[in-house]
Amino acid sequence: MTVAVIGTGAIGGAVARRLLATGHRVTVWNRTPGRTADLVAAGAAAAGSVADAVRGATVALLCLTDYHAVRACLTDAATVLRGRTVVVLCTGTPDDARDTARYVTGLGGRYLDAGVQATPDLLGTDAATILYSGDPDAFELHRDTLAAVGPPRFVGTAPDAAATWDLALFGVWYDAQLGVLRALDVVRRAGIDVAGFAATVGPQVGHVVAAVPGTVTEVVERTYPAGPATLAEHLTVLRHLAGQRSGSPLGDGGVSTVAARVEALVAAGRSREGLTATVHDGP
Ligand SMILES: NC(=O)c1ccc[n+]([C@@H]2O[C@H](COP(=O)([O-])OP(=O)(O)OC[C@H]3O[C@@H](n4cnc5c(N)ncnc54)[C@H](OP(=O)(O)O)[C@@H]3O)[C@@H](O)[C@H]2O)c1
Repeated sequence: MTVAVIGTGAIGGAVARRLLATGHRVTVWNRTPGRTADLVAAGAAAAGSVADAVRGATVALLCLTDYHAVRACLTDAATVLRGRTVVVLCTGTPDDARDTARYVTGLGGRYLDAGVQATPDLLGTDAATILYSGDPDAFELHRDTLAAVGPPRFVGTAPDAAATWDLALFGVWYDAQLGVLRALDVVRRAGIDVAGFAATVGPQVGHVVAAVPGTVTEVVERTYPAGPATLAEHLTVLRHLAGQRSGSPLGDGGVSTVAARVEALVAAGRSREGLTATVHDGP
């Protein structure tokens, strides 16, 4: 089985190297042709066009900057997609994934969308999580090939499931990291010892991690026990936080919006419920 790797940047180059290291036949194409030289030296074949690369392969992995580049490359290969599997390893939106799936399947190809939760150096190790969604038969057919890149995890038959999952995970990282940054900035501005404060940050994040299983149960079962604090108590702290963060170059991280939401729930007589009550619609 020959694998086409379209785009040999940081991710694509690492993907191609992993495939070669695990004994796959690999054809590479890159917009800037010189950037495939080291892969050719390592045993890959270089194709003169996207269409040539895909024509000689059963599965094509597109490792490109964004979905504009993906569409440009797929358009070049439009006449040879029938019967082949296209896997897009690219950070994008659920809409991007749906549109690309429609395009590929409309031309007779099979589609898998992938979310790469790893840096290039982690590819091929157990620390790399690669999320896939789309055609389940294509996933099973190419599971062993995909495993060369990292443990493959199929997250749904909807083509946009991997993008939703991937973005939500990025959101967890950004919320946590920016929360830490805001806190460090606030104490620094107040003239407090940042290093001393930082020693108390890890345990605080640890409370969130430890509470994940309980939070999942609450979201799924739509039950909102108060937990460490009631909504009435949260409201007081959220208002203080909004004041502390006002004027911050990073904004207030949404605490004003959440405070307004909690205020509405308290006004609706739900002051004794817990914070998870904020996620579902309705007062
Ligand atoms: N790097 C990471 O740690 C990481 C981690 C997770 C996810 N990702 C995601 O993986 C994707 C690839 O990232 P990367 O780090 O590999 O990027 P990169 O090193 O900048 O490589 C981008 C590749 O896309 C090609 N490209 C860009 N525009 C093109 C176009 N219009 N037509 C054809 N080819 C085009 C580039 O070709 P040229 O060589 O000709 O410029 C290059 O091969 C991105 O969506 C990124 O968000 C990256």
